[in-house]
Amino acid sequence: MADRIAVVGSNMVDLVTYVNRMPDRGETLEAPDFVLGFGGKGANQAVAAARLGAQVSMVTCVGDDIFGPRTRQNLSDHGIDVSHLRCVEGTPSGVAPIFVAPDGENAILIVKGANAHLSPADIDAAAATLKGCDAILLQLEVPLDTVYHAVAFGARHGVQTILNPAPADPELDLSRLDGLDWFCPNESELALLSGMPTDTDAAVLAAARSLIKRGIRNVIVTLGARGARLVTAEDAVQIAPVRVEAVDTTGAGDAFIGSFARFLSGGATPQQALERAARYAAHSITGRGTQSSYADTETFGVFCRALGEN
Ligand code: RIB
Ligand code: NA
Repeated sequence: MADRIAVVGSNMVDLVTYVNRMPDRGETLEAPDFVLGFGGKGANQAVAAARLGAQVSMVTCVGDDIFGPRTRQNLSDHGIDVSHLRCVEGTPSGVAPIFVAPDGENAILIVKGANAHLSPADIDAAAATLKGCDAILLQLEVPLDTVYHAVAFGARHGVQTILNPAPADPELDLSRLDGLDWFCPNESELALLSGMPTDTDAAVLAAARSLIKRGIRNVIVTLGARGARLVTAEDAVQIAPVRVEAVDTTGAGDAFIGSFARFLSGGATPQQALERAARYAAHSITGRGTQSSYADTETFGVFCRALGEN
């Protein structure tokens, strides 16, 4: 049986505009291209894990607008269980206007919409499903109380929890993450949450260690073009970057986290899972959009062979 992963998190509709440059205030500027896609950090991570063969359930909210049913359909099309998807009356779906520059870098606005309604009660309603999972994946596009509740649920029922604290939220209370197994910030999220600099590898290590001292078991820091770092109480492992020509970096972090969860629950060691996740994320930046650029197992295998690895 495939490993089972639950994502307690967001769905957004991505309004991706490819720009030559950002408009100035008061300026109207023509942009060369636009793509409407399915996104949201939760859904992106769910889709990455599902594309790689995991059995995935989502606990999530959508709005009662034209995007709600399409979002449900998108998840189903990826084989993701939507029995714990709730439509919130009188509320818009989450949307993300995204701007991608010619060098592949992006700027993102998020409007949480229905995602702001995902509550601890939604987790309790999905308890039977969550208890049967190998891992629960979390991000910060839903209310913090829901995140704390899910971490506590995982700790109580022996289901490992993985939290990607994105987008950065200074209100996140680390003391309410007791029992969290994997904490996966990028360097700016790490700087915000540790209150320490993260501009060098040594600084990243010190900042991650400070979180370990505060009770988090494993910290994985994603470092963009510098790769990633796994820090535990005993150990620190550097994961080398995978260099590719960037077309669109949007959602690469989600590709990394979702695939990491899948590889880990599939039996890989943490280091193996991270090395594969780095390759999976690298592949995603060679294609446009978020979910639309996530490889399935076969395409990912071809990409890895082309990199000269397996
Ligand atoms: O991480 C990328 C995602 O952030 C996008 O898909 C967008 O929806 C925002 O949530
Ligand atoms: Na991409």
